[in-house]
Amino acid sequence: MDRELSLEFVRVTEAAAISSARWMGKGEKIAADQAAVDAMRTAFDSVSISGTVVIGEGEMDEAPMLYIGEKVGAGGIEVDIAVDPVEGTNLVAKGRPGSIAVLAIAPRGGLLHAPDMYMDKIMVGPKAAGKIHIDAPVKENLKAVASALDRAVEDLTVVILDRERHSKIMKEVRDAGARIKLITDGDVSPAVSVGIEGSGVHMVLGVGGAPEGVLAAAALKCLGGDMQGKLWPENDSEIERARTMGIADINKVLTIDDMVHGEDLFFVATAITDAELLNGVRFFGGGARTHSIVMRYKTGTVRFVDAIHKFDRKPSVIKRN
Ligand code: FBP
Repeated sequence: MDRELSLEFVRVTEAAAISSARWMGKGEKIAADQAAVDAMRTAFDSVSISGTVVIGEGEMDEAPMLYIGEKVGAGGIEVDIAVDPVEGTNLVAKGRPGSIAVLAIAPRGGLLHAPDMYMDKIMVGPKAAGKIHIDAPVKENLKAVASALDRAVEDLTVVILDRERHSKIMKEVRDAGARIKLITDGDVSPAVSVGIEGSGVHMVLGVGGAPEGVLAAAALKCLGGDMQGKLWPENDSEIERARTMGIADINKVLTIDDMVHGEDLFFVATAITDAELLNGVRFFGGGARTHSIVMRYKTGTVRFVDAIHKFDRKPSVIKRN
């Protein structure tokens, strides 16, 4: 994929973020999501790719746009797209930090077609890559990360979704002595943080969405971090569904390369509300300012894109941060 595509992709997440941000704090997560979906779909129309949505808003009959299997783009190289127009719909509805509009793009066949079910996940940054295992006790993984980062377990912070299902791992982390940051929603944003040294996040643990798992894997692959996942079915029909999507062994440990194959990969996200490393959308008279991260695996480039968007053509005073 040409590097120029990165700017085209960021236009897509910017459009979604701006549209969804209008719904911040209005308590309407479906409307916030729909606004982002519509904006993203329109923005894709001018991107020079022949894209297939492999992770999207659901099946054709349940999602009017950006459904799995939908073709997007104005024509060009054949790519697979994982898309979450609003990752953290509750966060936007409540005006809380951590929501992003996000895309991962790889050549056709490059992304795992993750079924819409839960996935157990463990994520770490570059220095701890290759040192963790999802089946190892939490304490052992923490020790391995602490040693890789040359610090004590007490100096580690682990991000975990605040859910009842995580009470056991929370206890294990606490017993080991590490600190915990509980989040209410949105486990893709911490995947970006854990991959960036100095963010204050050293591990992400627990069960969240499998589609979000593939997006997290794309981010961490670009950042040189590591991740493992295991599907976490809740019933037999989910096991069957995974099988029809090509995952024969439901207990298989999915490595980062199982989730995102190959060397050609983009990850793009724009903050809707403030996120760890990104400012949320800020509106001003006649326009808005967005903040995005754009990463390309092939070259290791990580760009932060701070953009001003004018809704009218009148000149306006651009202020410093
Ligand atoms: P939505 O944006 O679809 O609302 O998902 C947010 C999210 O918090 C994900 O980041 C996470 O992986 C998943 O939901 C967790 O699911 P649940 O809320 O069912 O525990």
